[in-house]
Amino acid sequence: MKGLFITFEGGEGAGKSTQTRLLHAALSKLGHTVHLTREPGGSPGAEALRELILFSEAPLSQRAQVLAHMAARADHLDSLILPALARGESVICDRFHDSTLVYQGYGLARGATRDLDFIRSVRGLLACEPDLTILLDVPPELGAARVASRGGKTDRYEQEAIAFHQRIAAGFDTLANEEPRRIRRIDASRTPDEVAADILSVVMNYLPS
Ligand code: TMP
Repeated sequence: MKGLFITFEGGEGAGKSTQTRLLHAALSKLGHTVHLTREPGGSPGAEALRELILFSEAPLSQRAQVLAHMAARADHLDSLILPALARGESVICDRFHDSTLVYQGYGLARGATRDLDFIRSVRGLLACEPDLTILLDVPPELGAARVASRGGKTDRYEQEAIAFHQRIAAGFDTLANEEPRRIRRIDASRTPDEVAADILSVVMNYLPS
């Protein structure tokens, strides 16, 4: 039996790392074998690409960013996600295809049809879609304030102006409206415990009893 593939999506400062960790702990406690991973990254090769994609000072064209994220994803799929799912184990992944469509498609390319189609074509070639996507919804201004209060080094995308992050929020909104069965929107402006309880009740409906 194939395992459950759950992805988390959202803008900056939505609380994805906290919530993926809490869900991983809750499912493990219930006796499920679950892998917690992230993108870009999640395998040694993809983590090396992550450094280049997020922190290299060299500019990268929009299409190059799409293909770099997809190259990292291919390695992550081949070395971790697909083998785990094939063994019947579940995978929780912090960001996946929807982030590419939103950041590179709606954010950088401002939703141009040609660019969205390019991303969708490569996505189709990788041929792996999540069973469930949790979209953590926070106003971009609140997300930006959370990132600023966290401190530390900022990546290529966090450095973008607020208008970019508003396009990201609108892009996720568009995807959630297009695919309401797969993408479940959760209000992430509440306390971590409230958000985690909502997520667990959504996920429980997808797990074999
Ligand atoms: P994060 O670890 O905070 O989620 O940072 C990853 C950054 O990479 C975040 O700004 C979103 C961005 N990103 C893309 O632009 N495209 C992608 O396909 C993925 C997976 C992430």
